[in-house]
Amino acid sequence: MATIPRELTIGQLAERSGVSTSALRFYEAEGLIGSRRTTGNQRRFAREMLRRVAFIRVSQHLGIPLGRIREALGTLPSDHAPTPEDWRHLADSWRDDLDARIDHLQALRDDLAGCIGCGCLSLTTCALANPGDIQAARGPGARRFD
Ligand code: FES
Repeated sequence: MATIPRELTIGQLAERSGVSTSALRFYEAEGLIGSRRTTGNQRRFAREMLRRVAFIRVSQHLGIPLGRIREALGTLPSDHAPTPEDWRHLADSWRDDLDARIDHLQALRDDLAGCIGCGCLSLTTCALANPGDIQAARGPGARRFD
């Protein structure tokens, strides 16, 4: 197996992570990953960015908002490459988020079970069409149903 270079171009990072270069540029613009610029103004990513990208992708698959992902990544040290211990600490702190998400999905599943076969999508009684009664919180008046 080939060793991973200490620094990667954006194309190498895309190839190794399976994430498009445009997504990587977006992650960088959002402060989720970082790079240095060469004298020719090309990005060079430290090898450890691969792990960050993997963390971002998995978190996104779980439906965790980017802001929360950024917050979690912000707990990693900025003065050195994160150690396995740093990542373990992050994973531990991530458990509460995952538990909350699992609870939310289980509640949605239970609501969906009641809605299958109903189909009313009532804004007053359907927890799927109007979770947490957000329509009431928006106040009276016509609006687009989104
Ligand atoms: S679709 Fe009727 S209660 Fe949800």
